[in-house]
Amino acid sequence: MPELQTDVAIVGAGPAGLMLAHLLHNAGIDSVVIDNRSRDDIAHTHRAGILEAGSVRMLEAAGVDSRVHTAGHRHDGITIRVDGTSHLFDFPELVGESVWLYPQNEIFVDLAAARERTGRPIHYSVSDTRLGDIESERPWVAATTVDGEELRIEARYVVGSDGSRGPCRAMIPDTTRQRYFHEYPFAWFGILCEAPPSHEVLVYSRSERGFALISQRSDTVQRMYFQTSPGTDAADWSDDRIWTELQSRVAGPDGFELRTGTITDKTVLPFRSAVTEPMQHGSLFLAGDSAHTVPPTGAKGLNLAFADVSVLAPALISALKDSDAEALAGYSQTATKRVWKAQNFSYQMTRMLHADPGQDAFETKRSLGELHSILDSEHGRRYLAECYTGWPNG
Ligand code: DHB
Repeated sequence: MPELQTDVAIVGAGPAGLMLAHLLHNAGIDSVVIDNRSRDDIAHTHRAGILEAGSVRMLEAAGVDSRVHTAGHRHDGITIRVDGTSHLFDFPELVGESVWLYPQNEIFVDLAAARERTGRPIHYSVSDTRLGDIESERPWVAATTVDGEELRIEARYVVGSDGSRGPCRAMIPDTTRQRYFHEYPFAWFGILCEAPPSHEVLVYSRSERGFALISQRSDTVQRMYFQTSPGTDAADWSDDRIWTELQSRVAGPDGFELRTGTITDKTVLPFRSAVTEPMQHGSLFLAGDSAHTVPPTGAKGLNLAFADVSVLAPALISALKDSDAEALAGYSQTATKRVWKAQNFSYQMTRMLHADPGQDAFETKRSLGELHSILDSEHGRRYLAECYTGWPNG
């Protein structure tokens, strides 16, 4: 039975886990990373594609930014369309920042390659992951490797970056763990298609038929979404039906038309908000989706995972190198402040832009009033631009 000794055992090789492993390695701290998915599975899972300015700065500081700048695209704004009329948000003018369009699976590829260059392990495709002794200074993680061997990792700290369905969160005792949850009456239908971009920037559209988002991937591949009901089966939607629906949600007096093409992927995305507090217990620390999920509107999921790591990495480094565990003790308190700002923004964007089939006419008018309070005001536009590009740390 391979038994590994390390400083930090990291459960989950998504962007949070791998970014953490990389920052720790750069500071001379060892880690072992495991994941129950295969490398291919993670690399081919389509997630959101927008990086806040701070997330890009983090990739730069970690030395993992070369492809963001060559394969990614800087976006200096977004368009919000309301019943067919466009409102442009110019981020550099409003808040002096930009965002980058660079899909999460590419970030995984970059971080996994960086990890491989260090020669330190990522054990993919493990099963039966367990952890224990998290209230002690010698917690452990065990799993069965892809070859059927038992793997046991003994560490000083364990980090659960194991996503919304991983085993780590449940290790925090019920008596101290609070789960905050909000369900929305919609889902998103997401497509990838072979077409040129329909607009210079992303288009978030509110219409009577519901929300649509016209995002991008490259000069030849586009990502688009439209609001649907949670029970939707992607197989019921022909390409023609999808294009008609998307077009109807962005149509307006300006004649805006989508550039269409072959649809290569159709997925229905779940839609919920959840937060677990505290994000730590004893020697266990949660980061990313294991502690919180946001609805996709506004693309905060990955950015929030990176923000967690930007607090957790220096705190672990101080604890392990300087025996100063003060920042680590305050990790949850520091991280959850931003988590709730992102929850609020994702919720607000969702509520302002979607048509809730169960809502009354008052709520439809009220949410339009909320949207116009932002669109029609310099302060409002600055507020939205700051939320979208990412709040300063602290
Ligand atoms: C994307 C997804 C989002 O939820 C969003 O707000 C912006 C972009 C995307 O996948 O491109």
